[in-house]
Amino acid sequence: MTKYIVQGGSPLFGEVHISGAKNAAVAILPAALLVDGVCRIENIPQISDVTVLLKILEQLGAKVRVLNRSDVELDCRHIITTRAPQELAHKLRASYYLIGALLGRFGEAEVSMPGGCNFGGTRPIDQHVKGFAAMGATVREGDYICAAAEGGRMKGANIYLDVVSVGATMNIMMAAALADGTTVIENAAKEPHIVDLANFLNSMGADIKGAGTDTIRVAGVERLHGGAYAIIPDQIEAGTYMAAVAATGGQIRVRGIIPKHMDCITAKLQEMGVEVEEQDDDLIVRRSGELRHANVKTLPYPGFPTDMQPQITTVLTLASGTSTVTEGVWDSRYRYVGELTRMGAQIRVEGRTAIVEGVERLSPANIQAYDLRAGAAMLIAALAADGVSEITNVQYIERGYEDIIGKLRALGAKIDCVEENDEPPIRQIG
Ligand code: EPU
Repeated sequence: MTKYIVQGGSPLFGEVHISGAKNAAVAILPAALLVDGVCRIENIPQISDVTVLLKILEQLGAKVRVLNRSDVELDCRHIITTRAPQELAHKLRASYYLIGALLGRFGEAEVSMPGGCNFGGTRPIDQHVKGFAAMGATVREGDYICAAAEGGRMKGANIYLDVVSVGATMNIMMAAALADGTTVIENAAKEPHIVDLANFLNSMGADIKGAGTDTIRVAGVERLHGGAYAIIPDQIEAGTYMAAVAATGGQIRVRGIIPKHMDCITAKLQEMGVEVEEQDDDLIVRRSGELRHANVKTLPYPGFPTDMQPQITTVLTLASGTSTVTEGVWDSRYRYVGELTRMGAQIRVEGRTAIVEGVERLSPANIQAYDLRAGAAMLIAALAADGVSEITNVQYIERGYEDIIGKLRALGAKIDCVEENDEPPIRQIG
C-alpha cells in the first residue's frame, strides 16, 4: 500500500495540463461495445478505473490496442460473452454501464453489482432498472444483475426519471442507441459527460438529440460503425487544482479545459476572493489575499458539482467567517470531515449541511482518503497545512486522478510516495 507524505505550507506556482474526463471515459469505453467496427478513443485518462474497464472489455472478447499514453483502439466486433467477470466488475461503480451497452447490442447482460466509491450513503440503481424495464427488458438483481431484452432487442420507450441521475441517463442512452424505435428520456441529467457520450455515439452513427437539455431523444439505428473520438477534459480534475491553489495561495495556469464547464466552480471561487482569468482553453487562477466565506449547495449540472464538495469544503476551512456547504445530490458525503477536524478545521455537520467556521491555518496530521474526492480534499488540506502530513488509502485517489503527484510536484508541491512498510525516504521530499 502506498501513502503520500506531504510537506505543506508553500504556495503553488506553474502550469497543469488537464487529462480526459474520468466520468466520460468510464461511460464511453463500455459504450464501445455498441460499435460494430473499430473505434479509436483519444484523450483517455491514465487512471486505475480505466485500466480495470479495459481488462473487462478484453475478457468480454474486445480487442484492445493501446496506441500511446492516452489513445486506445477498441474492436468489439467479436464479443464472446455478455457476462462481465465479477472480480473486476465489482471494483468500480461504472461497471453498471456494461449493462446498458451489452443489453443494447446483444439483448442480454450479466454484470455483478457495481462497487466503487462508498461515501457513506446509499447508491441505488432503481432508475437504470426502471428504464431498462420500460424498454422491454427483464432485470433480476442478486449478486449479479441479469438483464434480458424481450425478443432479443430493446424497444424504444418514454422514460421519466424520478431523480436526475447521470448514470441512469447514460445507461438508458446506451440501451436505446440500437433499439427498435425512439426512446425519450425526460428529467435527464445534463452534465458535460452526458453530451460527450451522445457525441461519441453520434459520431459512430447513432441518432441522439437533446443531450445537455433535460429531454433526450434517442432514435434507434440498425448498427454503429467505427470511427475516432476524443474525450473532453475533466471538469473535476481542473476544479481540484483550482481549489488547491485557492487553499495554498499562489498562481497556476490550468491548461486545456473547456471554460464553460468550469463556470459553476469559477463563480464560487471568485466569490471567495480567488482571481480566475480565462485565456482561450486555459484558466489563470490566483489567490494572494484572504479567502472569504461562502455558501455552497451542490446540484446536478449546471449547479455546483457534488464531486467538488469535499475540495471546496476544505478551502472554506481557511476562509474568514462562517460558511455552509449543503450536499444536494447524495444523502451523505461527509465522511472526510473528521479528518479535517483532526487538522484543526472547525466543521459541524447537520444533516446534509456542513457549517464551517474558518480558521487561520490547518495543522499537519496523519489522515486517510475515504474515497476519490475526499482523498483529493485530503491532499489539498495537507498542502495547505504548515508541516508534514501523511495520507493513507491513496489508491482511492489514483482511481480517478491521472498522475496527481507528478502534476502537483510540477506546481512546486513537496510530496513523496512511499510503500507503507518502507523506511521513511532519506532524500528530501520534493
Ligand atoms: N439515484 C437514485 N436512483 C438511481 C440512480 C441515482 O435514486 O437509480 C440517486 C442517487 O442516490 C443520488 C442521485 O440520484 O442521490 C444522483 O446519482 P447519479 O445517478 O447521478 O450518480 P452516479 O451516476 O452513480 C455519477 C458519478 C459520480 C457523481 C454523480 C453525480 C460516475 C461513475 N460517477 O454517479 O462521481 O458524484 O454522477 O454527479 O460517473 C466521482 O467521480 O467521485 C463520483 C462519485
